[in-house]
Parts: sequence; C-alpha cells; structure tokens
Amino acid sequence: MKNYDFKNAVVGTNVLVPVLGGAKKKYINFDNAASTPPLKYVWETLHKFKDYYSSVHRGTGFKSIISTKAYDDAHVKALRFVGADPGCFTAIFMKNTSDALNKLARRINFRRGDIVLSSLMEHHSNDLPWRAAAKTVHIEIDGLGYLDLDDYKKKLKKYGRKVRLVAVTGASNVSGLIPPLKKMAEMAHRAGAEFLVDAAQLTPHRKIKMGKPGEPDSFDYLAFSAHKMYAPFGTGVLIGPKKIFLRGDPDSVGGGTVNYVTRSEVQWAHLPDKEEAGSPNVVGAVALSAAIDFLDKAGFSRIAAHEKELTRYALERFSDIDGVTLYGPKTWVAGEDRVGAISFNVDNHYHAAAAAILSYEGAIAVRNGCFCAHPYIQRLLRLSDKDSKVYRDEINRKIRSHIPGMIRISFGLYNTRSEIDRFFEMLEKIVTRKYKGNYYVGRRSGEAFPRNFRFPRMTGF
Ligand code: ALA
Repeated sequence: MKNYDFKNAVVGTNVLVPVLGGAKKKYINFDNAASTPPLKYVWETLHKFKDYYSSVHRGTGFKSIISTKAYDDAHVKALRFVGADPGCFTAIFMKNTSDALNKLARRINFRRGDIVLSSLMEHHSNDLPWRAAAKTVHIEIDGLGYLDLDDYKKKLKKYGRKVRLVAVTGASNVSGLIPPLKKMAEMAHRAGAEFLVDAAQLTPHRKIKMGKPGEPDSFDYLAFSAHKMYAPFGTGVLIGPKKIFLRGDPDSVGGGTVNYVTRSEVQWAHLPDKEEAGSPNVVGAVALSAAIDFLDKAGFSRIAAHEKELTRYALERFSDIDGVTLYGPKTWVAGEDRVGAISFNVDNHYHAAAAAILSYEGAIAVRNGCFCAHPYIQRLLRLSDKDSKVYRDEINRKIRSHIPGMIRISFGLYNTRSEIDRFFEMLEKIVTRKYKGNYYVGRRSGEAFPRNFRFPRMTGF
C-alpha cells in the first residue's frame, strides 16, 4: 500500500454509465454519506484473503487458524483506530451502526425512569433504539441546524441523575455539522450520565480519540459502519466498556456465545464472542481492518484537509447560483469543522425530480428525501406539526409524490474539484430548465423518472 493518490484510491471511479440521449458519462458518486465504494487496497486485501477464507473459532485447519487470527486482530485494530484501550473496552462486530446501537439499547440495563438525551440532529438509528428502551428526550437545534448547547445544559439540569445516557451524532448526515463532542461528553459525565457517539459519519473523515474511562471528556460508547469507510462488506462496530457486556446474558444467543452448556446451564464465552452470536463475518472484518490500515497510513490530517477543501469549494460555488436553497450554514465558517455533506433544494423543482435529472443526465449520484433523519429535516424545512400531519395522512393513502425533502451531496476522500464543477454545470441546467428529459414523479413511490427512458438492465449480478 504505497499509493495514497486519493483520486484513484477506490474501485469503480472510471465507470461509464448510460445517460438519457444515448451517450455514456463517467459516474460521479456524491452519495458517500450513504455508502462508500471499496478502497482498492481493501479489494486487493480481500482478493489475497479469499484463498485463506475459512471458519472462525471453529476449525483446526491452517486456513481456520489464519481466518480466526485475522478476525480477532480486526477487533483490536478497531479499538486502536478510535483510541479505545483494549484493556477497558470491547469491540463487538455487528452488521452496521443501526444494528450496533440496537444491541446497545438492549444491553444497557435501563431502569424505570431513566432518560436518554438524544438530539434533533440524529439519524433515526441513534434515536429510535433509545425510544424503544427508555424515555428519550431530544436536545434542540437552532435555525441553522447546530445542536443547541444551552438547551443541552438546561436538559441535563432539569433531568439530573435520571439521565442515564447522552447519545449524539459525531457528524450530521444531513448538514455535516459536528457537535462539540468532547465538551458534551464532559457535561454528560459531570451530570452522572454516560456518553455515546454515533460515529457513522465521522470515522471516514476525522480521527477519533475515545479516551480512557474515567477521563471527563472520554466517550463511553461508539458505533460505526465499515460500509461508510470504504469497506462495504457487512461489518459494523459497537465499542463500549467491557463491564457492561460482561454483566448479564447477551441479547442474542447461540453458536459461538458460550464456553460450556449443559441441559440446564450455560457459561457465556469471553468478550466479544459472548455478544457475537453465530458464524461471524470474517470477510467484513478483514475488509474493515484493511480500510483502517489505509486511513491511518494515509493520515486523517490529509484526508480532512482534502475534504474540507472540497466542501469549502462547493459552498463557494453554491453561493454563485440563484434558485437554490441551502440548509445549514451557507458558507464555510472559519474555525469550525464540518464534514462534506451539503443538503439543498432547487427552488423550482421537486427534490426527487432534481436528483433524477442529476442521475439520468449528469451521471451524478446524490441522495434525496429525508435521509432517515425526519425530525431534523422537518425542522430545517420549518415544517409545522400540521404540515407533518398532512404528509403523514398522504402516506397513509399511499401518496408519496409531494413529501418534502432535500437533495444531498456528500464527499469522500477520492472526490475531486472537477467533479464538483461537473455537478454545478448540471445544477445550472436544472435551475434554468435546460435539461433534456421530461420528468414525472411516481405517485406511490415518490421517485422521479424521465418519460420514455429507462436505464438499461445489467445482467450477471
Ligand atoms: N445511510 C444514511 C444516509 O444516507 C445514514 O445518510
């Protein structure tokens, strides 16, 4: 792994895709907040590993020994990647961040009356699992989408020792904003609560240091997904203090979770095996491990500098274009940090239609809709409860063709300024209605398509 040329670091960047009118264009992926393509280094590592793939923790063959070691080592690497001491913390491999947070919600022994303080900025995965487990109260945001620290302080004071956990995003998947995590952790600990960071949007972009348990500004829990950090092979990571998982029974039981079972008794295995029921995903673990090696060796200072430059440039270009509404801060705010996710609307187009034009005519992939962060989007769009009820009722009647939403571009380390230029060329065409197709929005699906054109079907997978 000598080549840290970011532009060519991932697979698939030179793929030409069909566009309306018969031509082919080079695909641009500005949907990295949803999922990133694999790094070439990850792909090559898996290619080497495939010949040694075998069962983990179950076989005596040479390949099983290699696979088991790779799988176990990946756990230690994941801990070190986020500055978590393997003596105090365990890393549990799950499917993704949502899966990890659901597990944690089941494994924290919430008592009656316990409160989880989450925020209005959250992706649903760091909100709904808490709602299912305990009373969940949301920290407010301001008009630009920043987390409201005064409200946080007020809520910590109001609920006092009832606050068992503060669970916030490491970076918003909508606005890219990064809450002041260390400060918030300190405030949570002072109030007697534990502190969790949903780091799904942070691990690919910034170095994280969880810190040691007992340090005032340390993080107690962290969750992240390999598919957002260039290793999309089905691994998510939950990190937390060993003592939480040593206690009690695992939430999911079966093969691999035990040391010994009789007809009436079970002795649980050591961590993390106790919490990872069934045959583990060793390929996902090897991929994650390779991605960590790449990101660490490439250096987060370089990655962050490149992505900040892209974000700053995109914001600058947005400021030159009329007929577009941006959500969140409209300019790069000096001294502040944010990851490269920018959400907007084209004023004279429904979000699904604008996203479809970008794809069908520009070969540019974005995400549109509410990005699994409905409360945040509703607030940024200034929707009232009455408005929300109207749309909810429409969804009940299977009409999704005017649900409010946004369009999001999100950058990864391999994106370039010239891709941003191509995006703005296309955006200009949308704003001025100079595109080719005639688009309609499906009443039931809410998706937009050009009339008389469909992407050709791919065969073979
Ligand atoms: N997958 C989610 C997104 O696209 C987090 O934002």
